[in-house]
Amino acid sequence: MRDPSLRVLIPAEKIQARIREMGEEISRDYPEGNLHLICILKGGCFFLSDLARAMHRDVFIDFMGISSYGKGKSSSGEVKVTKDLDISLENAHVLLVEDIVDSGITLTYLLHVLEQRKPRSLRIAALLDKPERRQRPVQVAYVGFQIPDEFVVGYGLDFDEKYRNLDDICVLGGP
Ligand code: IMP
Ligand code: MG
Repeated sequence: MRDPSLRVLIPAEKIQARIREMGEEISRDYPEGNLHLICILKGGCFFLSDLARAMHRDVFIDFMGISSYGKGKSSSGEVKVTKDLDISLENAHVLLVEDIVDSGITLTYLLHVLEQRKPRSLRIAALLDKPERRQRPVQVAYVGFQIPDEFVVGYGLDFDEKYRNLDDICVLGGP
């Protein structure tokens, strides 16, 4: 039975249709060269796996673990790498695959870290974007959906590690 504190914001079919479009667009934009999709754990894992399969070219897949010293609904603003990449990024096109851009603090930090690895290019694909919450300007090349300033869960996104495996993206509110 569905949790009464959840309201569906983006149903699974809409998520999948949008990711197919994004896969086509990204494939067109990168006609040649090595392309690395870097998943930011854990929230980006479902998006990465669907996006990679929506692409019409070879991709490398790698994972980066970060902690933002935050529990609950906001991060503390301090970011730390907890699992580094396995594959070198030198001369490769790199696409950071994130679940959601909120304050922009995490991605600003990660861009800084990854630029030092000398990629050929470095851009961001985020499934969700909450532009109203931005504290650091960050350019997101591919956005799945812009959403209002509400806390969402599902399709990789959690609240205290719960709800990640929902198919839909839902707003978490009180009943
Ligand atoms: P930022 O550094 O504030 O942009 O935070 C990005 C990270 O915060 C995301 O990768 C998520 O893990 C988490 N986050 C931000 N907004 C939400 C939300 O609405 N639901 C779940 N996690 C969120
Ligand atoms: Mg999170």
